[in-house]
Amino acid sequence: MWRPPERIKWKPAPGRWPTREEAAQSLLFGPVAINRMGLERRTWVPAMVPWRATEDGCVTDENLEWYERFARGQPGALVVEATGIRDVASGPLLRIGHDRFLPGLRELVQTVRRASEGRTRLLIQLIDFLAVRRRPEPARFFARHLEIRPWHRERLVAEDWPEARIRETLARLPDEELARVLAPRELEALRYGYRERVTDIALPHVRALPEVLPGLFADGARRAQEAGFDGIELHYAHAYTMASFLSRLNDRPDGYGGARENRVRLPLEVFRRVRGAVGADYPVGCRFLAEECIAGGNTVEDAAWFGVAFARAGMDFLSLSRGGKFDDARQPAIGWTAYPYTGPSGYECMPQYISDRRGPFGRNVEPTAAVRDAVRAAGFTTPVVVTGGIHGFEQAERLLREGKADIVGLARQSLADPDWFEKVRSGRGDEVMVCAYANYCEALDQKHEQVTCQLWDRKGLDEPGVRKTRDGKRRLVPALWHASRP
Ligand SMILES: Cc1cc2nc3c(=O)[nH]c(=O)nc-3n(C[C@H](O)[C@H](O)[C@H](O)COP(=O)(O)O)c2cc1C
Repeated sequence: MWRPPERIKWKPAPGRWPTREEAAQSLLFGPVAINRMGLERRTWVPAMVPWRATEDGCVTDENLEWYERFARGQPGALVVEATGIRDVASGPLLRIGHDRFLPGLRELVQTVRRASEGRTRLLIQLIDFLAVRRRPEPARFFARHLEIRPWHRERLVAEDWPEARIRETLARLPDEELARVLAPRELEALRYGYRERVTDIALPHVRALPEVLPGLFADGARRAQEAGFDGIELHYAHAYTMASFLSRLNDRPDGYGGARENRVRLPLEVFRRVRGAVGADYPVGCRFLAEECIAGGNTVEDAAWFGVAFARAGMDFLSLSRGGKFDDARQPAIGWTAYPYTGPSGYECMPQYISDRRGPFGRNVEPTAAVRDAVRAAGFTTPVVVTGGIHGFEQAERLLREGKADIVGLARQSLADPDWFEKVRSGRGDEVMVCAYANYCEALDQKHEQVTCQLWDRKGLDEPGVRKTRDGKRRLVPALWHASRP
């Protein structure tokens, strides 16, 4: 992962933990409403992909165990990982693009309900993404993938050469020469792997996104409701289709790109179809970016404007993340796909303990507060969720008291210790396993390996019934907290 050049090492500093009585009187452990859904607490576990579904997107026992473990900590809300709305192969990510996924998802809902004793509201994050291919072997790229076009002939001064000779010549060219002969997107496909963009409207399926996505999201939402989820989070963040529509880099000429009004058009159309499918009372919100953190990308002003548009349209909550884009991702090794959390924008999304002067803790608080201020100034009370480096009670409580957000998300901290919520609430915060923000989990995510935490995945491997990774070296969930319910 990219890190700021200052290389300042930060230590997590959760501060003083509250007594049970202090926690009981806090805002953090007090209720908040999202549409008709009451959250008992203002605590939130944001979506985290653990790479535990079957290759065809079904819920596994490992998925159930993972969410069960989070639910035991009784956060106010738990958001199930980014779940694909299409019925297409996408590796061990959950999917919801067909009714055959319903039995597994139903079981997941029941598991969380049981384990949290009905205290945790369960949402599911619905995602669409475009094609991203592996970085190819150069020989294969020139022999097969690259389409020989007029500009290759012109630039090689090879108008009448047979195609095979052009391919062979290109395969032998040094890098600087290739940069002159290939088009920028061809060069990108060679160096990073081919990646579709929402602006590729010459591709019929990309041009048709505004026609197909509202229906796909609405079908996914209907299934989520049928499976018993308490609500839906539309994934409008990071490197994926909907965030790319919102981006300033989206210059589609068909009324869905350019000005903010156009960029927000499809996200609003998707929301309206989803709303139509699930009804007025069902909680639906979205996760989007407080800042894209890339050159020419969306700023906080864009996010504030979108936040108001989403609130006006009737979204029930807004969850703010930041960065996580392909645009500045590191070059992957040959045979691997680019990963949108390896560049500076990826750092902003999951800031690590090696940081700059601002440090990794709470980088998203002020940008989120700016979005919330704009939403409030426009007269809407839509709850706003903030996430990013939050791990201490004092920090969480302060930002709630100062009106920076309404709900606090802890992603890596709850992965490090899913009992954070119960421990802190019951006055036993000193037993919390504090996240080191070393991004061990993120590195596993990057390799599409089962995500675990270095604070617990090698402990008690011999205990009976411990489920382990495929190589048998790591446990898949932390041991139960001694004070937790049997
Ligand atoms: C292993 C892992 C998987 C993640 N998967 C998702 C995801 O599916 N959807 C999403 O919106 N964010 C995802 N994120 C980002 C987190 O939700 C969160 O925004 C980020 O980790 C910063 O919050 P934190 O500092 O509390 O960890 C993931 C993060 C991690 C570490």
